[in-house]
Amino acid sequence: MINLSKRLEKIASYIDKEDIVLDVGCDHALLDIYLSKKYSKVFYASDLRESALDMARANVKKYNANKVILKCGNGLEPLKECKDVNTIILSGMGYMSIINILKKIKNSNINKLVVQSNSNPEKVRKFILKNGFYISDESVVLDRNIYYIVTSYKRGKRKYNKFQKEIGMISGNDLDKYIEVEIKKCKVLLTVIPKNYIFKRLEIKRKIKYLNKKKNSIDKK
Ligand SMILES: C[S@@+](CC[C@H](N)C(=O)[O-])C[C@H]1O[C@@H](n2cnc3c(N)ncnc32)[C@H](O)[C@@H]1O
Repeated sequence: MINLSKRLEKIASYIDKEDIVLDVGCDHALLDIYLSKKYSKVFYASDLRESALDMARANVKKYNANKVILKCGNGLEPLKECKDVNTIILSGMGYMSIINILKKIKNSNINKLVVQSNSNPEKVRKFILKNGFYISDESVVLDRNIYYIVTSYKRGKRKYNKFQKEIGMISGNDLDKYIEVEIKKCKVLLTVIPKNYIFKRLEIKRKIKYLNKKKNSIDKK
């Protein structure tokens, strides 16, 4: 069996047996090989680059994962060839790539997204929430000294306040440490933002307050 990184393990944990998945930007395709073995069913995996798919092909062969179907294509393009797909995985990319790929998601047949952005997860979250999905679950994972936010979205609407959109609905064993890191980042920002940027500073102070409240609620559990 494949040993996944903690980050990929968390992404995999958000996939249910009934999901019909296209993993966009699969690269090595290890996640899809793992999932296809776990559920003994077809997983579609695509990438923009043939060179990435060569690696994926080699891994599919190595693990004898004949239920992983590899496609070459940009973003959601491969969906044309796999019309039964109802779930998209997008992980390990920057926020702009993810947002660009998801630009047409609102009017698609996709009803579930599992997303992990390597940068600005709050920008991706806000975009997805605006485009007809709600957060079904969200976790923070510490993997090789980097905190990753992994979010599972389902189609539908829910109301979130400003901080829930910004920070998310995260849980997980690493949440308290992650919040401490986020508070530190905010405090550093306060040292560099000029005093006359009153509203920006106020916003950051409110964020610190929200994060502290979230931290206190974890400590009490
Ligand atoms: C760093 S890898 C991440 C691999 C894997 N998803 C993971 O989480 O470990 C990012 C992959 O996304 C692919 N990619 C970037 N933009 C893409 C796009 N618009 N459509 C399809 N694949 C894309 C790249 O070619 C690369 O193989």
